[in-house]
Amino acid sequence: MATFNIHIIPSQKGRIAIVTGANNGLGYETALALAKKDMKVILACRNLAKAEIAKQAICKEVPQAEIDIMVIDLSKLASVRTFANAFLEKYTQLDILINNAGIMTPPFSLSEEGFESQMAANYFGHFLLTALLLEMLMKTPHSRIVTLSSIAHKTGKINFDDLQSQKKYSPMVAYSQSKLACLMFSYELQRRLTQMGSQTISLAAHPGISDTNLLKNTPIPNWLFDLFKPIMNLTFLQSAKAGAEPTLYAALGEDVKGGDYFGPDGFNEMRGRAKKVESTPLSKDETLAKKLWEVSERLCKIRQ
Ligand SMILES: NC(=O)c1ccc[n+]([C@@H]2O[C@H](COP(=O)([O-])OP(=O)(O)OC[C@H]3O[C@@H](n4cnc5c(N)ncnc54)[C@H](OP(=O)(O)O)[C@@H]3O)[C@@H](O)[C@H]2O)c1
Repeated sequence: MATFNIHIIPSQKGRIAIVTGANNGLGYETALALAKKDMKVILACRNLAKAEIAKQAICKEVPQAEIDIMVIDLSKLASVRTFANAFLEKYTQLDILINNAGIMTPPFSLSEEGFESQMAANYFGHFLLTALLLEMLMKTPHSRIVTLSSIAHKTGKINFDDLQSQKKYSPMVAYSQSKLACLMFSYELQRRLTQMGSQTISLAAHPGISDTNLLKNTPIPNWLFDLFKPIMNLTFLQSAKAGAEPTLYAALGEDVKGGDYFGPDGFNEMRGRAKKVESTPLSKDETLAKKLWEVSERLCKIRQ
């Protein structure tokens, strides 16, 4: 079985990556690893102060790092458009787009556009961002788009009758739906890129269960989380650094192809070394994916 070894990946000098949600957790570890490979990394974050701290931390570890900070709030379509316009004005290439930012199981709320908050930040924001940057990605040789999914996609369903959970909100059901949507988007994008004869490839990754702020926003109280952390560390939890490995495999691996999905190789894919993994039959349903794409284009006002 092929395994990923970041240490044998050559320098990526001259290449540019965007990592959304790069100030924390998996996004931070991903940005740090890319900077270590000499890539210019754009930290696409919603909070400038947090992004500055992340930049300083990366530059402390990698003094030659080329880091740019650009503000984006993925739950607001106008912010995504402003970010994309600013990026397209400033840069002439985009080698890797990492659709990483996300939230999990917040109380119910709707975005300005009327999207359930997890669907807004995890899925619709990245759908629009990718659409706006696709032309530049396709012009950049060997470019890749990596979208973060989750083990939770396995229980997800796309509920077109109540896509924004307005009739009934279950935080975990909505999270699973958003992560299934991300995975279906990644596969559908690859099918469309293939149809267009593009060299750009779309891949997906999930980090198993990684120790990041994401888990702290669950209904589990933080003190209980901290109490059981030693046991969780021994059984199923892994570090954010380890959790970023499947993303890095998708972004930099030399034995990958469009449509691949990466995750940890341990029990139930909860932790371990990055490998190519399988997803549910539903995630590969092409009719459903096409419908989701069309609905997303309409809701994101890409095509009226
Ligand atoms: N940790 C896990 O076990 C796990 C498992 C499966 C999948 N994932 C996926 O991995 C990805 C990264 O999560 P993580 O675990 O690293 O969580 P994290 O530590 O909470 O980091 C999430 C990042 O996303 C940013 N973000 C959230 N909403 C945003 C918005 N509207 N606009 C811009 N940025 C936003 C956060 O910014 P702020 O700091 O400003 O909040 C933060 O930088 C997510 O897509 C998540 O679904 C994680």
